[in-house]
Amino acid sequence: MRGSYQETYALWQADPEGFWRRAAEQIHWFKPPEKTFDPDQGPYGRWFIGGETNTCYNCIDRHIADGRGAQTALIYDSPMTGQTARYSYDQMLVEVSAIAAVLRNHGVGKGDRVIIYMPMIPEAVFSMLACARLGAVHSVVFGGFAAHELATRIDDCGAKVIIGASCGLEPGRIVPYKPLLDHAIDMARVKPNCCLILQRDQYHAPLRYEHGDVDLAQAIEVEKVSGTTVDCTPVLATDPLYILYTSGTTGQPKGVVRDNGGHMVALNWTMANIYGVKPGEVFWAASDIGWVVGHSYIVYGPLLAGNATVIFEGKPVGTPDAGTFWRVVADHDVKALFTAPTAFRAIRRDDPEGEHVGRYDVSGLRALFLAGERADPETLKWAERILKIPIIDHWWQTETGWAIAANPAGLGLLPVKHGSPAKPMPGYGLEVLDDAGHAVVPGTLGNIVVKLPLPPGCLVTFWEADERFRTSCLEEFPGYYKTADAGVIDNDGYVFVMARTDDIINCAGHRLSTGAMEEVCAMHPDVAECAVIGIADELKGQIPCGFLVLKKNVHRDHAAISKEVVQLVRDEIGPVAAFKMVLMVDRLPKTRSGKILRGTMQKIADGLPWKMPATIDDSIVLDEISAVLKACGQVAA
Ligand code: COA
Ligand code: AMP
Repeated sequence: MRGSYQETYALWQADPEGFWRRAAEQIHWFKPPEKTFDPDQGPYGRWFIGGETNTCYNCIDRHIADGRGAQTALIYDSPMTGQTARYSYDQMLVEVSAIAAVLRNHGVGKGDRVIIYMPMIPEAVFSMLACARLGAVHSVVFGGFAAHELATRIDDCGAKVIIGASCGLEPGRIVPYKPLLDHAIDMARVKPNCCLILQRDQYHAPLRYEHGDVDLAQAIEVEKVSGTTVDCTPVLATDPLYILYTSGTTGQPKGVVRDNGGHMVALNWTMANIYGVKPGEVFWAASDIGWVVGHSYIVYGPLLAGNATVIFEGKPVGTPDAGTFWRVVADHDVKALFTAPTAFRAIRRDDPEGEHVGRYDVSGLRALFLAGERADPETLKWAERILKIPIIDHWWQTETGWAIAANPAGLGLLPVKHGSPAKPMPGYGLEVLDDAGHAVVPGTLGNIVVKLPLPPGCLVTFWEADERFRTSCLEEFPGYYKTADAGVIDNDGYVFVMARTDDIINCAGHRLSTGAMEEVCAMHPDVAECAVIGIADELKGQIPCGFLVLKKNVHRDHAAISKEVVQLVRDEIGPVAAFKMVLMVDRLPKTRSGKILRGTMQKIADGLPWKMPATIDDSIVLDEISAVLKACGQVAA
């Protein structure tokens, strides 16, 4: 019998290790952990020491052993291609084993890194699980990133093999992935042994056999025909399951490392307690496997808990219309839906009265979960009005892998406060500190921090960069993990997450680094200096805007330079950067010590009240910035 939120959180507070030890009983261990937590391992400690397990075994084989092999595990629904497909747990085992066999034939074993660069197709999920089966470490790269980003990741993780698809599909265009991959490999220092390429019907890529390219579908077929089986390799609970690169404050992305044991224990706990779903029910995270939401809630969470998961290759609008989410919910009897608020803003823009909902039977849907960016109260209320089910905002990050704060449907919903992702989940001791590290009084804005240790399932470090992890996340507030989110905890213990405290922006639910964009803008030969800030956008939440100062001797047409800079960012980072707005300025506002006043620029751009910084070098520059923004219609004249 499950207790209420209050009881459950109190249980965790009273005995954190006991809490997670009990949760770990739901996972299959080849050898049970000897110790629940060891504070002396890793940058802040490690969970489930000595335990041996396998994540793929827990996602597939365990359910088959329990007699549920015929149950649906994965539903592929692609309005982009008009295809749907269903795979039972038994069928998943066949598909995953075949890819694991192909990987093994190419020398992949425990601890080797495999990059997966694929769109939203079942083979992407099978590939992730195939790596897990072998004890190999996958690193999925989102399809909207360009060759340079891919090359950075190949080098950083030292990829032995790459699994890719010939193309992805965006509305109205085919995105050939293979040429990007070739370009990335040419750029990278590390040369993978081979690339396993899935040829899609929409685009057959020329394969570079001399570089070790392999037609994945053919290789899979060979393994299926010969009936090859691949046993699950036992790994330590503390061994890495995956690396997921996420934006940092510079162009060098941070490789978030997730372990096997803690990750399974935490995600499995969330499925029943936060999302309130039972084994066998359909859970749909309308995200992308390239993001953490996709890792945790398209792949691992639902499969660990024995749910059926949906892999959806489409967009909330335009594929073909704003009713597509409701069509998927009705067709597959989805019980819980998880997406980003931006998707709902897009649906609302196209279907303000929610008329599409009435065209489908969505009566099975019990709750909608939103995360990835701040859920604005207007969108929340609109979703409540059209769906008439609980709309649950919850807050988390790539680093944490699961919700830091949520309104837990499985434990019984707490009263809703619009604009708040409700209360901290067990495992997270949240505090709000001022910049000097002192606790603020409830209701005051400050840095939201998590008391160490982080719970199971959170990042254990950055890939081969313990020191970078310590300096960027643990050092500023000793004894705490810095979320880099600013917010408030009110008198009732509700958390309100207001903004990032660093250079990260959130555009269409995608996490982007303005620092990385600045580095690319600065590569243009005509640019002397630049600043990129996120400015408010009705649909995407924020969009990047670049302010460029040109070199003194440049007399070329500004429009042409802007176009080149936009293209450069698209080529270097990828279309997902959504970098389309460039403004030319004579100077950038700076402090006397030379720091660019990005925060003040952002407030001016968003039309928010702002104060003249005491440390400003030349206050006139801010007037110049306002004038440029007014001239382009960004702020009211
Ligand atoms: N592969 C290649 N290109 C991609 C891509 C992918 N996987 N994903 C996005 N892009 C491209 C888009 O086609 C677009 O290109 P364009 O500049 O040529 O138009 C560009 O990257 C920017 O994409 P995006 O910011 O997503 O804008 P959009 O107009 O295509 O779509 C939304 C807007 C709101 C519909 C869409 O962003 C969305 O569904 N967001 C939900 C995000 C989400 O699920 N986040 C995960 C956290 S839960
Ligand atoms: P990502 O790592 O891509 O998941 O992005 C994490 C960041 O998105 C967080 O640090 C927040 O800034 C923001 N974010 C995610 N969920 C929420 C939420 N529910 N409310 C406010 N901000 C959120």
